Order: sequence, then structure tokens, then C-alpha cells
Amino acid sequence: MGGITSPMHPTLAYIEDLARRAGEILRTGYGQQHQIDYKGEADLVTEVDRASEALILGELMRQFPEHSIFSEESGERAGNAEDVWFIDPLDGTLNYAHGMQAFCVSIAYEHSGALQFAAVYDPMANELFSAERGQGAWLNGKPIRVSNPPSLRESLLVTGFPYDVRTSPRNNFAEFERFSRLSQGVRRLGSAALDMCYVAAGRLDGYWQLKLSAWDLAAGALLVQEAGGVATGVLGQTEILRQQNGVLAASAGLHAEMLGVLRETAGEE
Ligand code: IPD
Ligand code: CA
Ligand code: CA
Repeated sequence: MGGITSPMHPTLAYIEDLARRAGEILRTGYGQQHQIDYKGEADLVTEVDRASEALILGELMRQFPEHSIFSEESGERAGNAEDVWFIDPLDGTLNYAHGMQAFCVSIAYEHSGALQFAAVYDPMANELFSAERGQGAWLNGKPIRVSNPPSLRESLLVTGFPYDVRTSPRNNFAEFERFSRLSQGVRRLGSAALDMCYVAAGRLDGYWQLKLSAWDLAAGALLVQEAGGVATGVLGQTEILRQQNGVLAASAGLHAEMLGVLRETAGEE
């Protein structure tokens, strides 16, 4: 794929194309023998994470040299504060390294402090989730909406655990137990970006995770909001990108109910 002509300013079509091109790298490398480096005991990086990131950063740095970029494997590339990219070149690396098909590329673009565009691409399912501020959210071009379950009791939830789960007291076990008793069930898929896309598409009703980085959640948060849902920190904080407030994403009614449980659990910890 040659890619669409690069514009002066990013457009949703440009970001969607970039996510598809990076996703193609993940798809081609899937199931091969990987070079695995350890960032932590259960925190891996493969040569495919790096190849996907090199494609995305190379493209953005060529096209938008003044922009700032936060990307998982390269950290921060300081540029102007007005235009900021949040890139996860492979979200779900542990799945990927084990040959499990739940992973994606996640790209978000922020302008003047507000997320504008998001694209999350799952190359194995050929599913492209995308959103534009004020315009809506789509799956392969078709509009998506969050679900509207009558209550937490009738909801299917999803969560994730941080990489420091073996040592940190903020490990999500208490929250996991509580929501498991209060809902229809709690899934754990291993890709924060896909978790949020599935909430945006109404496949899952609610998602929470205590700690996440901006590249994990930026695109998914815009997707949920543009699909009619609410995305905040786990204790209702509005700032989710630059402080580690985690994420709580769901339709408004379920969000309020889950927030009550999370606040209560945090008070007891
Ligand atoms: C991880 C995944 C996982 C979440 C972790 C993330 P990575 O991202 O999104 O679902 O539980 O907190 O770090 O390392 O696969 O890009
Ligand atoms: Ca990630
Ligand atoms: Ca990653």
C-alpha cells in the first residue's frame, strides 16, 4: 500500500491509513519467531513493536516535524505543545508474543489540548475503529454507539492489570472481585485500546483500569466519547492523559454506577 497523499494538517483519512500500514507490519510478523526484550518481568517488547513504531514516527516526523510525539518505545519527542501525537505501535504485546489474536495499533492526535482524531486498527480482524471530535465514531466506516445497559447487574465488563501487579498494592484485585460479583462478568483481553473500542462499539458495556499511559488510552477515550459514552479517570478525574488516573469508560448511566463502586473500593484500600 502506498498510503494516501500527506496533507498539511492531519486528517482522519491520513491517520486511518497510517494505522492500517502499521497494522500490516503486525499482521506480517504474527506467528513468527520474535526477538523479545524485557522492560520488566512481564513487560515485553518485540522487534515488531519497534518496526511498527519506526514506520509511524518516520512518517509523522517527515510530515509534521514541529509536532510533539509520545510513543511507547521511544518516549517523548518534544515539539510544539499545540500538536501532540499519542502512539502505541502495538497494544497487546504479551498477546502478540504468545500468538494470541488480541492486539492493535493505536494512534491519537491532540490539537490545542483536545483530542481531535483517533484510529485503532486490529489487523487480524481487519477492524478499523476511528473517531473525529464532534463528528462521531466508526468501525470500518459504519457509525458505532456505546451500549446502554439498564444496570451494572446486566453489564458485561472488561478490565486490565498493570505490569507492576506482582508488587504494587494498587493491583486491581479488590476492584476485580467486586465487579465480578456485581456484573454479568468481567473479561480481560490484554489490549487497553481494543477494550475501549469494544465499549465504543457496544460489544462490552464498561471498562476500567487503574493505571495506564497516554498512548494506551488516548485513541480509545476519544472513540468512547464520540460513540456517546463517558471516559474519565477511575475516580472521575477529567484529566486522563497526563496524570496516571487510569480510565473508566462506559455509557453515562453505567459510568455513574461503576464510579460509585470504584470510589467505595478506593476508600477501603
Ligand atoms: C498493555 C495492554 C494491557 C494493559 C497494560 C498495557 P502493551 O499495553 O494494553 O491490556 O493491561 O496496562 O500496558 O504493553 O501491550 O502495549
Ligand atoms: Ca499499550
Ligand atoms: Ca505497546
